[in-house]
Amino acid sequence: MTADVDPPVTSAFRRRRSPAPAPPQRVAEILADPGFGRYATDHMVTIDYTPERGWHDAWVRPHEPLSLSPCTKALHYGQAIFEGLKAYRQPDGTIACFRPEANARRFRDSARRLAMPELPEDLFLASLRELAGYDEGWVPEGRGRSLYLRPLMIATSTDLVVGAARDYLYVLVALPSGAYFTGGAAPVTVWLSEEHIRAAPGGTGAAKCAGNYAGTMAAQARAAEQGCDQVVWLDAVERRWVEEMGAMNLFFVFGTGPGARLVTPQLSGSLLPGVTRDSILRLAHDLGHPVEERRVSVEEWQKAALTGELAEVFACGTAAVITPVGTVRHATGGFAVGDSRTGPVTVALRNALTEIHHGISGDPYGWMYRLV
Ligand code: PLP
Ligand code: COI
Repeated sequence: MTADVDPPVTSAFRRRRSPAPAPPQRVAEILADPGFGRYATDHMVTIDYTPERGWHDAWVRPHEPLSLSPCTKALHYGQAIFEGLKAYRQPDGTIACFRPEANARRFRDSARRLAMPELPEDLFLASLRELAGYDEGWVPEGRGRSLYLRPLMIATSTDLVVGAARDYLYVLVALPSGAYFTGGAAPVTVWLSEEHIRAAPGGTGAAKCAGNYAGTMAAQARAAEQGCDQVVWLDAVERRWVEEMGAMNLFFVFGTGPGARLVTPQLSGSLLPGVTRDSILRLAHDLGHPVEERRVSVEEWQKAALTGELAEVFACGTAAVITPVGTVRHATGGFAVGDSRTGPVTVALRNALTEIHHGISGDPYGWMYRLV
């Protein structure tokens, strides 16, 4: 052990502090306007896996480039998965993460789908605590601000036989974050993608793997050509059933006032089971709104929007939290949702969720997990 290596304090992690952390003034500038995904903190976690040793060599270490062979399997065959979750500064100065156990579980589910080794949930959680402990000063204050935590796993074996790798690397990086979309929380215009699909039955749509995102870029470019902000994915077979919006789950609000009903596409196997989606199902129910998980067709969406029965639509996910959908366009036309503004049910749910994130309304569901 060299002089700049701190002794392990908890668990199996070894620690090496960055010799050149960002100066406090630079961190303050970044935290004042973090955007999304632009700046990484000073440190990262890495953990290696081999079949012989299992998960080993857990490190908190300076955030720096990885050294990988050009033959690294993940670069060729896409055995690569990731997660996304956020840590928030709490009113008492502690730092707490939203439902990390759910992300730990989904990370294992994704690993299984891609024939990768499962990272034990306690190691996943320990990695979050370790990194947050080192980079505590990077957690911004204020509503809508957080530290975005990005765990990932790649296949590092270097033989190019098509088949599951033997060796893997887990990495956790952190990036302070504000609004995900440049328009903040303003309603978006969406393009119903009939040409491209995101996922098919039996495929990897329910896993959070890198390849799922690569396939969306061309469709996103097509949506932008049509003057739209985001793509809405339809099912692969009939191109009729609504699945997701971009990298977010969708909710439809039928009716208005306390009797408004919420509907979200059921987990078809080809859409990602969002942690935010699951949380909203609970919050909406507890706010008195009936909730339903079922199929929603494009025809139903358009018809209910035109009759006015459909009052609001919003998308939800960790990065952008809750984003209203104002206008829908497709190959043969388009329509507005409600008055194309952010509706009251969307606002109420966003407030309920963000008040939990920031510790304003306490933690009624035990969703916040203290990191520091
Ligand atoms: N759908 C896709 C394809 C995603 O990438 C994400 C983000 O992780 C979501 C939905 C929302 O999931 P969550 O609420 O867990 O962030
Ligand atoms: C989310 O966290 O909500 C996402 O959609 C992840 C995305 C930035 C890939």
